Amino acid sequence: MFITLEGPEGSGKTTLCERLELLLTSKGYDMVCVREPGGTLIGQQVRDILLDQGNTGMAPQAEFLLFSASRAQLVREVVKPNLETGVVVLCDRFLDSSLAYQGYGHQLDVDVLREISGFVTAGLQPDLTLLLDVLPEEGLRRRKQAPDTWNRLDAYSIEFHSRVRSGFLRLAKDNPNRWKIIDANQSADAIFNVASKVLLEALEKPSV
Ligand code: TYD
Repeated sequence: MFITLEGPEGSGKTTLCERLELLLTSKGYDMVCVREPGGTLIGQQVRDILLDQGNTGMAPQAEFLLFSASRAQLVREVVKPNLETGVVVLCDRFLDSSLAYQGYGHQLDVDVLREISGFVTAGLQPDLTLLLDVLPEEGLRRRKQAPDTWNRLDAYSIEFHSRVRSGFLRLAKDNPNRWKIIDANQSADAIFNVASKVLLEALEKPSV
């Protein structure tokens, strides 16, 4: 099963990902946990370019293609081989982040991005996506509390981050069978309780 975590800045995905990994491992699931951009040696180098605050003036199209390059490597090196042997893959961001950030945020044509992404992921789609929904003002406030992790994309305007959030909500609304929206204004424990319930239900559901 392929599970992704999505959400705007400061939504608490990374903390949640770590806790979900511990939970599933303790329940005996064979699993790997990866993040985007990154998750492979090649992807990690692409990540450094993408997040480097010195890279001002990066064209949105170049940004999208760099995220896609990292994703193409991750899918082939980690995600697909693990799914093929029955391992649960938990991914901190995936293709939907590109649709929300580069598509809705930068206002690139979402249909064009989807078309290119079919080539990038070989059509792979998550089975379940948890959206940690938080207002951009609150998310960015949380991010500022950890200045060492502040990156090039965090510095985009509040209008950009508002479009990203609306984009995520729209993607979730368009595909309610795959997406579950979780209110990320709650405490980390409350978010974990909701997320773990949704995840365990999905994993324990007999496949037809
Ligand atoms: P990261 O520090 O991993 O942030 P987070 O903890 O919020 O995931 O930085 C990744 C940044 O890249 C984040 O601002 C979201 C952005 N991003 C895109 O713009 N498009 C993408 O396709 C992906 C995967 C991430």
